[in-house]
Amino acid sequence: MNKLRSEINQRLTELLIPIKDGQVKEAMNYSLLAGGKRLRPLLFLTTLRAYNIDYHPYMDIACAIEMIHTYSLIHDDLPGMDNDDLRRGRPTCHKQFDEATAILAGDALLNQAMNIVLQIPMDAILKIKILTRLFTASGPNGMIYGQQQDLYYENRQANIEELQDIHKHKTGELIAVGMQLAALIANEDDYDIWSQIGFDLGLAFQIQDDILDVTGDSATLGKNVGSDIENNKSTYVSLLGIEESQKRVDELFKKCYESVYAMRINHGVILELLTVILKRVN
Ligand code: IPE
Ligand code: IPE
Ligand code: MG
Ligand code: MG
Ligand code: MG
Repeated sequence: MNKLRSEINQRLTELLIPIKDGQVKEAMNYSLLAGGKRLRPLLFLTTLRAYNIDYHPYMDIACAIEMIHTYSLIHDDLPGMDNDDLRRGRPTCHKQFDEATAILAGDALLNQAMNIVLQIPMDAILKIKILTRLFTASGPNGMIYGQQQDLYYENRQANIEELQDIHKHKTGELIAVGMQLAALIANEDDYDIWSQIGFDLGLAFQIQDDILDVTGDSATLGKNVGSDIENNKSTYVSLLGIEESQKRVDELFKKCYESVYAMRINHGVILELLTVILKRVN
């Protein structure tokens, strides 16, 4: 997994080289190469591996997913959104540069994600399917909708259904998309089962994030703790408390493990990655 992660980092570095020099390029480099966990591209590439498919021709899709995720983080941290000043262990993009540069760097990462996938030499029909799913996941019926609802429920308490809907969109979509895209490449018959696993994992992932915002420490997390409380966010912890939230995480992971186990694939690589995510401390 570390080898796969360094291959992703290597390719991300290369993909930024042709961009024109300036503040925006610097900010893109700064935020993208700041050492995120790369879980979303890892989920995509590892799902391909579970089908014994050579992932190398699809590395740029993995990078596109990570670029979209990083853009979402840069914008999520802006003063008009969560107003955070620490990300991936460093000052957030708008703190290191300025707000305008952070907005443009986010926009640029989203644009480049599209350009990069467009340039991959592959079957055109499959490419369009991939682009459609990826940009639906990140768009106003996907991640952006979730971010909108997350902001709407600041200073008002969402009920459990509303909260689940926020988490499904703001986080579930970009977690699930890697597995969905891998299914489009490897075996479309498995698409629905990967979607279900991806959304369960995404929900578990965001509940963990809500818990870590309370129980984590900033040095390990690489972001400030207590951000949700400061912003009066509706979270699993604010609604259910830490213990019940952790119980939900454990149940969701159990469901994911069982679903993966029931498939006719090379389970080992996926189970290993699920365990890394289950045990995450940042
Ligand atoms: C943070 O995602 C945003 C959430 C959806 C909780 P990650 O925890 O994957 O952040 P990085 O990419 O490792 O920095
Ligand atoms: C972020 O959720 C989801 C995104 C789409 C970026 P959070 O706001 O809880 O993520 P962190 O805690 O800032 O990483
Ligand atoms: Mg947020
Ligand atoms: Mg945030
Ligand atoms: Mg959070």
